Amino acid sequence: MPAVVEVRDLVRVYRSKRKAEEKVALRGVTLTVDDGEILGLLGPNGAGKTTLVKILSTVLLPTSGTAKILDKDVAAAPRAVRENVGVVFGGERGLYPRISARQNLDFWAALYRLDRRTARRRCAELLDRVGLGDRADDAVETFSRGMKQRLHLARGLIHGPRILFFDEPTTGMDPVAAREFRTLVHELRKEGRTVFLTTHDMAEAEALCDRVTLIDHGSLVLDEPTEHIGRYLDTRECVDFSCDDRALLDEVAALPFVEVVEARAGGHRALVRDPAAVAQLLVWLIGRGVLSARRSEPSLEDIYLRLVGTRAMSV
Ligand SMILES: Nc1ncnc2c1ncn2[C@@H]1O[C@H](COP(=O)(O)OP(=O)(O)O)[C@@H](O)[C@H]1O
Ligand SMILES: [Mg+2]
Repeated sequence: MPAVVEVRDLVRVYRSKRKAEEKVALRGVTLTVDDGEILGLLGPNGAGKTTLVKILSTVLLPTSGTAKILDKDVAAAPRAVRENVGVVFGGERGLYPRISARQNLDFWAALYRLDRRTARRRCAELLDRVGLGDRADDAVETFSRGMKQRLHLARGLIHGPRILFFDEPTTGMDPVAAREFRTLVHELRKEGRTVFLTTHDMAEAEALCDRVTLIDHGSLVLDEPTEHIGRYLDTRECVDFSCDDRALLDEVAALPFVEVVEARAGGHRALVRDPAAVAQLLVWLIGRGVLSARRSEPSLEDIYLRLVGTRAMSV
């Protein structure tokens, strides 16, 4: 499969003019995205995700290294790149609040030089597609945050790009809208588009992405098909349980067949080495009156926590 995104040794340094300070946001990232793939880019705040997306969508120039989209260099041929990429940044910026959703899209269609008929048809289609059909002619300032986010999605799709960059697209969406977003991504893939998605939401990445990459301090620390991410843990088995007793938790952590105990939303997770240890731990916990214990699978979140640490959770 041909790569549609090719990034080689990409470096980006931010220089502040006032203070002679340098901030290295990307330190030599090499990455490819295949045609039709859904790639998840994960990483804690400040890891360099948005910087990478901005370079790939020609908003920002790289300091060194190369980035190509469908064989076109982002620095040398930005116009050709822009025709093929759509980008949706999180948040609410970039929309005109006083005019309607349809007028906002019309404006973007004009920037991409779509002819009037195509523009009108696409706007109507996209507004329906993101569930804003019945609010199309209302001023954007009357929209909820989630609705604005959906309008951003429509905007990113207006010129029918082959590659879509989503930077934390579900931030601020309610759970229903977030689920609809997943459906939309699957549809985009069915249409043959490639999706590059940055997200903080581990469950979202696991559910949606064919491959996940993890970036930390401007360097890639993981790049694996989603189904193989378990390889990154030498401990492949876990037991989830809830327990408020600090002393008992310490005892669990000290058991010879337990590698580590981590706090989780709604309880704790013990990582153990093999299925025999799972059985031992379950019996031990039940013997101590902890009846909520159950075996579970390591998730992307486990790998993330292992590689990035708890900084990852301070979102
Ligand atoms: N315009 C800028 N000027 C200086 N430093 C910046 C600028 N934009 C981002 N940075 C820094 O670059 C690093 C990466 O930022 P960013 O790409 O936004 O990360 P992420 O999207 O993963 O949170 C951070 O340390 C951030 O503070
Ligand atoms: Mg960001």
